[in-house]
Amino acid sequence: MTRLKNDTLVRALLRQPTEYTPVWLMRQAGRYLPEYNQTRARAGSFLALCKNPDFATEVTMQPLARFPLDAAILFSDILTIPDAMGLGLYFADGEGPKFERPLREEWEIRALTVPDPAVHLRYVMDAVSQIRRTLDNRIPLIGFSGSPFTLACYMVEGCGGTDFRQIKTMLYQRPDLLHHILNINAQAVTAYLNAQIESGAQVVMIFDTWGGALSHAAYQEFSLRYISQILAGLKREHGAERIPSIVFTKGGGLWLESIANSGCDAVGLDWTVDIAGARQRIGDKVALQGNLDPAVLFSTSGVIVAEVEKILSGYGKGNGHVFNLGHGISQFTPPENARTLVEAVHALSRKYHQADIDG
Ligand code: CP3
Repeated sequence: MTRLKNDTLVRALLRQPTEYTPVWLMRQAGRYLPEYNQTRARAGSFLALCKNPDFATEVTMQPLARFPLDAAILFSDILTIPDAMGLGLYFADGEGPKFERPLREEWEIRALTVPDPAVHLRYVMDAVSQIRRTLDNRIPLIGFSGSPFTLACYMVEGCGGTDFRQIKTMLYQRPDLLHHILNINAQAVTAYLNAQIESGAQVVMIFDTWGGALSHAAYQEFSLRYISQILAGLKREHGAERIPSIVFTKGGGLWLESIANSGCDAVGLDWTVDIAGARQRIGDKVALQGNLDPAVLFSTSGVIVAEVEKILSGYGKGNGHVFNLGHGISQFTPPENARTLVEAVHALSRKYHQADIDG
């Protein structure tokens, strides 16, 4: 396998020495970029972008043409899996994702099957290979999936932005049914991520956006347990290269120790977490990714630089930190503020990576 020209991200995720702290942004390709909105208009819809590898490649590359980012992330969505299961994903204008056929009846749940990524999610694998060819080994490509629980939230509720009433009712009244869904989802995610790795993804990330909505005990039983199951089934190497994995549970700050023990290489932190404390708790075990409040990017460059420095100094000297936002970049972010952030991380982080001459 060919060597990456910039493998800073991969080294940081494996807690190996780097010259500076690598940085990428959750949702770095998206509506805050005018060129994204133009391509989306040409494609006709967000789903058309995801399902056409030429468009998916084009928008994946857009933030990289603007900013010196240390990673590309596959342009797709976590809801491709339930869509491939036949639930009928669609996006109503300005309302976020919805399913035509959410899981309502027991027979529908019992009829769920694990999609074959080579068949039902072929368009994602084609996008991964095409993005890798276009990247030409400049920087690594991150593949991703939703966690089994986060996918189940959308599959049962039928849309986002709910109070989790239906899925939590199922959790407490029919835990057997929810476990059945989660088991199928875990098998589907494992096959999906392994297929992305086979197609060229060099890092994989699991987004557990809604794990933080669970109680302490339910998080372990209904979310983290299935994430661990996936991690145990992932290909750890491809073409003699290690494939690091990142787990991000939004609202998971209370559970960092157990997330770090799930078998992942890195833990994503949302902006509520103190990164210095997180490093003390789990930094000798895994790398940390995060965790600037995305709202900082509505501010001025002076504030952005100061907030970047706070996180860098909070993490402190040494390796194992990947800079990122604590959640996705907002569509209302001025693109120039993303540049200020990326450049500040590169410039300010070098001092934390110099060999310790004076002890
Ligand atoms: O990071 C990247 O640049 C890769 C692209 C990416 C998208 N979705 C593109 C997208 C990734 C990694 C995702 C993951 C995703 N999708 C998650 C987990 C991450 C998170 O944010 O917590 C979730 C929960 C979803 C489901 C989803 N897809 C929602 C809730 C929405 C609506 C969001 C909104 O801001 O309106 C989407 C749509 C979506 N996914 C957009 C993009 C760029 C906006 C769609 C558009 O162009 O209209």
